[in-house]
Amino acid sequence: MYPRVMIDSKKYAFNVSYITDLCHKQGISVMGVSKVYCADQILVSVLDQSQVDFIADSKLENLMHMKTTKPKVYLRIPALSEASLVAKFTDMSLNSELEVIQKINEVSEKMKKRHKIVLMYDLGDLREGIYYKDFSLDVIKEILALDHIELYGIGTNLTCYGSVIPSVETYQKLKHIKDEIESHFRINLHMISGGNSSSIPMVLEKNMPKFINNLRIGEAMIVGRETAYQNRIDHLYEDVITLETEILEIKDKPSYPEGELGFDAFGQVQTYKDIGMIKRAILSIGRQDVKHDDLIPPKGVDIIGSSSDHLIVHIKEGQYKIGDIISFKLKYGGILSLMTSPYVEKIYV
Ligand SMILES: Cc1ncc(COP(=O)(O)O)c(C=O)c1O
Repeated sequence: MYPRVMIDSKKYAFNVSYITDLCHKQGISVMGVSKVYCADQILVSVLDQSQVDFIADSKLENLMHMKTTKPKVYLRIPALSEASLVAKFTDMSLNSELEVIQKINEVSEKMKKRHKIVLMYDLGDLREGIYYKDFSLDVIKEILALDHIELYGIGTNLTCYGSVIPSVETYQKLKHIKDEIESHFRINLHMISGGNSSSIPMVLEKNMPKFINNLRIGEAMIVGRETAYQNRIDHLYEDVITLETEILEIKDKPSYPEGELGFDAFGQVQTYKDIGMIKRAILSIGRQDVKHDDLIPPKGVDIIGSSSDHLIVHIKEGQYKIGDIISFKLKYGGILSLMTSPYVEKIYV
């Protein structure tokens, strides 16, 4: 059945191993992030059999169901209401709210467990974490007093909301926090988690500050790209997951609609360029499954637009006919939504 995604676990295994090796050589442990492919068990098994140190996901449901012998890390800062599930199904979580940490402590005590946390600091990207300028030893004191919580380390997230690119200067803010905590409480923080796939360029350039000893990597492993500058990472596969769609209609038609123009199927006003008559094909995938901007078409095919169930392309080169399959490479967002769609078959190659 089409549309379908083709999942190549050997290519994924190669990417995972390449990045993990690169990080390990610089003293950086790795969390392999599985959320982009909904923690698909076959791909999780690749992480499980790899050298990654942890498996991390931002969906608690994924962590609850995945089978792995690696420690499981909850990436999204937990909701108060999730405390019991976090304590029960995960080994470690990223946190930023004392109230939530206290709640996890309370439920962990009942389960006779000790839950590890990485306390998140916001260095200016403005998503999760205690704002670095509000750093206070009081919060640390309160956390260290909890018997069923282990302050395993501190961390930060960059290039997410605020698109801040990791740099030695930005990381210096985290270094200051680490030094303050360690010297004041005479403790050793095991983990300083420096970010995600946007930190890969610093690893490649070997200018990651030594105190950063962990990264949480999803995108680079699945699409072979770093996310600071969106560059391809040499040697890595960018087609671990691809999309195959079938041609439903193929006709020569004008490029500019005829009649009075209003709104499209999504209530938006579109602009159209008149380039005369063109060969147009309709493919069996739509916006319900994926945003067309997240698809990378093959040479000779341009994406014109999409509605809920139809993708319209301009066939500029190549001999195509009804029933032919067109294959697309995918951007990260494309993998995310296609793997979530129940209308898209998943095939393992
Ligand atoms: C807190 C956190 N860290 C790391 C990641 C992984 O990011 P990337 O896929 O860019 O490597 C994510 C997103 O999945 C995240 O939310």
